Amino acid sequence: MAKLPIIAIDGPAGAGKSTVARRLAETLSFILVDTGAMYRVVALAAKEAGHAPTEASEVTALARALVAREALRFERDSSLGVRVFLDNRDVSTDIRTPDIAMGASTVSAHPGVRDALLEMQRQAGKNGGVVLEGRDIGTVVFPNADIKFFLTAAPEVRAKRRHAELLAKEGNAPSFEETLADVKRRDDQDTNRPIAPLRQADDAIRIDSSALSFDDTVRSMIEHVKSTS
Ligand code: DC
Repeated sequence: MAKLPIIAIDGPAGAGKSTVARRLAETLSFILVDTGAMYRVVALAAKEAGHAPTEASEVTALARALVAREALRFERDSSLGVRVFLDNRDVSTDIRTPDIAMGASTVSAHPGVRDALLEMQRQAGKNGGVVLEGRDIGTVVFPNADIKFFLTAAPEVRAKRRHAELLAKEGNAPSFEETLADVKRRDDQDTNRPIAPLRQADDAIRIDSSALSFDDTVRSMIEHVKSTS
């Protein structure tokens, strides 16, 4: 039997990658790999160990140690998409705060951290039948992925979605303006780092979800997957 495809979904924070990747994986019965969650776990572990995300050598050593002792574990979850464990502790909620999002962006700029997680990401996807979401899947992790999507949206639209999510989760959510500033700061960090920056692969299909519903976005992606298989 032919190998099932590797599908890469890259794009900036808040473009709807998680929702779309999850629906796509569910519809196709593919494995879902959320690579952003891996960087988030490193950011959380660094914070708990008392390291600032900018401390490159300490955070790199920590990321290597986490990978070596197989401390990161992911389980499929029907309500969350993926449940995330750090040393068998469920950190699925702890890694979804604005502070850890920013920390993940900062730790992900350290080449040693990227290197430590790269092999894990490749192992998770190598057999195909997988949807991987991140920033550099189509450019670095799987440059030969069968199908590549670059999902984006205007910063204001992304901030609006993120802000609505935060409001739904907690009463003391940051203001819209703060959320927009965070989105722009993270875009800037993720796009302008020297290693594996956020960039659309030349052969990726660009989808701007600013004016599209998630249903329409997923539908057009599924049509594309079906037309290529
Ligand atoms: O997708 P996310 O918001 O969970 O990702 C958190 C951060 O992790 C993001 O700001 C940049 C980093 N990241 C990365 O550098 N490469 C990836 N493949 C995925 C995420």
